[in-house]
Amino acid sequence: MATASHQDPGLVADGVARFVPPDVDPSTLPPSFALVEPLPALGAVPDSWRTVPQFDRTVDGLVAIIPIDAGTSLYGTGEVAGPLLRNGFVTECWAKQPFRIEDDGSVVPHYDERSKSLYQAHPWVLAVRGDGSAFGVLADTTYRLGIDLRDGIRLTCAQPFPVIVIEGASPQDVVRRLADLTGRIELPPHWALGYHQCRFSYYPDGRVRSLAREFRKRAIPCDVIWIDIHYMDEYKVFTFDPERFPDPDGTNDYLHELGFKSVWILDPAVKAEAGYSVYDEGVSEGHFLHDAEGHEHRESTWPGEAALPDYTRPETRAWWARHTTEFLEHGMDGVWVDLNEPSPILPLGAELPEDLQHRGGNGLAPGSHAQYHNVYGLLMAKATEEAMRASRPERRPFVLSRSSYLGGQRYAATWTGDNVSSWQHLQWSVPMVLNLGLSGQPFCGPDIGGFAGTPSPALFAHWISVGAFLPFCRTHNSLAGDQEPWSFGAAVEEVSRHALERRYRLLPYLYTAFHEAATKGLPVARPVFFADPADLSLRDEDHSFLLGGDVLVQPRLLDTGAHDFRVSRGAWRPFSLAREDSVSDPAHPVLRLRDGAIVPVGPGGQTAEEAFAGPLILLVSLDATGKALGRLYEDAGDGFGYREGQYLLTTYQAVLKDGVVEVSIAAREGRRTRPVRALDVEVLTDDGSRHAKGTEGETISLPFEQ
Ligand code: NOJ
Repeated sequence: MATASHQDPGLVADGVARFVPPDVDPSTLPPSFALVEPLPALGAVPDSWRTVPQFDRTVDGLVAIIPIDAGTSLYGTGEVAGPLLRNGFVTECWAKQPFRIEDDGSVVPHYDERSKSLYQAHPWVLAVRGDGSAFGVLADTTYRLGIDLRDGIRLTCAQPFPVIVIEGASPQDVVRRLADLTGRIELPPHWALGYHQCRFSYYPDGRVRSLAREFRKRAIPCDVIWIDIHYMDEYKVFTFDPERFPDPDGTNDYLHELGFKSVWILDPAVKAEAGYSVYDEGVSEGHFLHDAEGHEHRESTWPGEAALPDYTRPETRAWWARHTTEFLEHGMDGVWVDLNEPSPILPLGAELPEDLQHRGGNGLAPGSHAQYHNVYGLLMAKATEEAMRASRPERRPFVLSRSSYLGGQRYAATWTGDNVSSWQHLQWSVPMVLNLGLSGQPFCGPDIGGFAGTPSPALFAHWISVGAFLPFCRTHNSLAGDQEPWSFGAAVEEVSRHALERRYRLLPYLYTAFHEAATKGLPVARPVFFADPADLSLRDEDHSFLLGGDVLVQPRLLDTGAHDFRVSRGAWRPFSLAREDSVSDPAHPVLRLRDGAIVPVGPGGQTAEEAFAGPLILLVSLDATGKALGRLYEDAGDGFGYREGQYLLTTYQAVLKDGVVEVSIAAREGRRTRPVRALDVEVLTDDGSRHAKGTEGETISLPFEQ
């Protein structure tokens, strides 16, 4: 969060300009939460600048209007259900737990493509012009913002706001610059890329242990078991139920012995109960939100009446961090922060009064909840992440946050909230992840199988098979039926095992894509139109997606017949990852490799640790000139040694010459010792593949007739 107010209009970076409404004094604008640091103006915006917002005043407040040319496709706007292409949609940046009012007047938690806002707020639109060039529009405000994409881009807010426009030669260029401005993810630990099993909730602790044993017994790859709210004593945050979870350290030790990590949930609301030390401290040290009359605000949530920490206060973030640090001493590996829109549980759909008072500090002015609502989740995630970082400086933090704001990827991964066990929600999983990625958040995924309801065996099989290729891969469900990979019978168990084996084989490549996200700000899961931004036929393709730059994933997402996948020019040869010969099920997405690419594939295993050790296969797909290139990023998988050069970034190349493909190292970076390992080569052809065995570091030659 940038704490000084540098909101002057002008060019603020190469290809980035800020516009301020003409009648607004820039020094009165609040500091930006989206930007990593203030961006002072470097000079005037040149006359040739293409995209200039027009400001207007209406009864609803200030409007910024950005016309678009015919053929311009709109994306981003953060976490939105519905199609990838956002032209024609109206959304609102206002973080909330979505709900639906049924015909009988009852309110149910639910979202669909008509939901104007979900749990997160991303005041950001990416526009891709007909010629493939692109620009992005960032409304730099934390207040409620309307985003109307029915006729160009129309942004409305009751408070004045600056608009930052990023110009780029391509959508990739704009997304990269967005990340330069709003931050990139930190490299996650290896284990966070594995499979996660969650439910609301696994309890008591004996059930957690048997779940862990079951995974190992059935040989289904899994790295993380999640502990939802039933571990708490009466849902009091930072406590443990003495009967259900009398020994959290022992539970974590047990999981660790079986090779699992654990992630435990924290809610922001603190039960308002005198004698409960967290609450008592909160009251005496002034950590809770107050209403306009100065009384402690109460909301009705899991523990009953509860108070909410005011995370705008540095003292409150430090207090939260202190409790989180003590909590982590029980051996948790990650923390899940939930309900931080913040969302009261009762009455369902309730929202916090906008006149609640935040006190701020450290350059942050006191302000109403209307101003700080959208960054509540981001600030909670920040306090939690900083606690993890400070208390375990040798380990990479892992936080998952339900609510977030533009730039929230700096602190936490995310998921797409309480989805539903339906084919439609399975389909939306893909465009939701893609639009979050185009809004700066690469580390996300859906609740596999759906949170509300119970999926049919076929739906679960399809969901886990595509979920295995999304950046964050976690099954989660509510209080309904069981949703473990073996809960739907032997056939679905086998599909699930195979789906996760495929993910684990691909982890070296996936981690390399995460490295690109961490260093360049590119999404891990990318829309197909990234392969050719000028090809208009690809603009609304949102069943298939690219993983990194080279792998195309073509899943079956609906039960209503085959989807007509759009593919960019090139060969896009299919490839297999694990046991595909013996396991063929329509649930598994078809995987294709871009021609001209090399993809590193590992041995797989039951844990990420196993999957990153051992031999490698380089999958090669030669382009029309007989060449291919690919990269592999490797490091210790945890810790920060990579910052001191303890990593390897290898560029492999393949060249076909005189009937022989030669595969060798074209470039290397980093000081990590190169592993001694078998390195095999598999060159894809139009009718199968050819193999050669070799050793890391040597040139591998493969006789090759097409
Ligand atoms: C709401 C979250 O969205 C869900 O994932 C979680 O299981 C419940 N809260 C209970 O903590």
